[in-house]
Amino acid sequence: MTVLSPREGYRLWAPTYEAETAVTFLEDRLACELTPPLAGLRLLDAGCGTGRRLLSTDAALAAGADLAPEMLAASAAPGRLAAADVRALPFPAAAFDVVWCRLVIGHLPDAAPVYRELARVCRPGGTVLVTDFHAQAVAAGHRRTFRDSAGIVREVEHHVHPADAQVEAASAAGLRLVGTREGEVSPPLRRFYERAGRLAAYEEQRGLRIVLALSFRRGAD
Ligand SMILES: C[S@@+](CC[C@H](N)C(=O)[O-])C[C@H]1O[C@@H](n2cnc3c(N)ncnc32)[C@H](O)[C@@H]1O
Repeated sequence: MTVLSPREGYRLWAPTYEAETAVTFLEDRLACELTPPLAGLRLLDAGCGTGRRLLSTDAALAAGADLAPEMLAASAAPGRLAAADVRALPFPAAAFDVVWCRLVIGHLPDAAPVYRELARVCRPGGTVLVTDFHAQAVAAGHRRTFRDSAGIVREVEHHVHPADAQVEAASAAGLRLVGTREGEVSPPLRRFYERAGRLAAYEEQRGLRIVLALSFRRGAD
């Protein structure tokens, strides 16, 4: 299978992206656990995709940015969405209290510039939350695949950034680790496998870690 660049992959994935998968369902649970109450805060979702995670927040300001215009065009999210790379965000320094970067960093070859930019736009004392496809899932042979609107299975480029390497890159950017979650294949995900007629795979994969979530506090300047 040809491995697609993120730009091409999400151009093709955009029409069907919002169908929740085992990975995105689990990721959302972990992200909610690690995100502080958002009422009154300024939130940025860097690599927001369709911006769907911004829809359910009560943040005072909810902004998003994504590389793929097709993902943004599929958005029903209010607020401000920009076409931009997470390594060069079109926002001033310290503009946000909470910065999400969810299921994006694995699509980039180097984590350091991503963490530098997330830290730049987060205010001192604010929160940066990064989630990723887990390295253990990749080691077990899992890939970032999706079925396009014609039913063809496609794969998007993914780079493994182990948790310790991410924490190191974050630390170099002035971010201190304050929370970690690792999400595994477990009963709440069974229905996704059942719907796909893959219950045997569910039994085989139980306990496999498929999502990593890291939360950081930005230090003072
Ligand atoms: C798995 S989707 C996650 C979308 C959203 N964060 C969510 O959880 O629903 C990954 C997103 O990252 C975006 N992306 C990939 N590389 C990017 C980059 N360098 N800058 C900005 N967005 C990027 C893709 O266009 C895609 O929308």
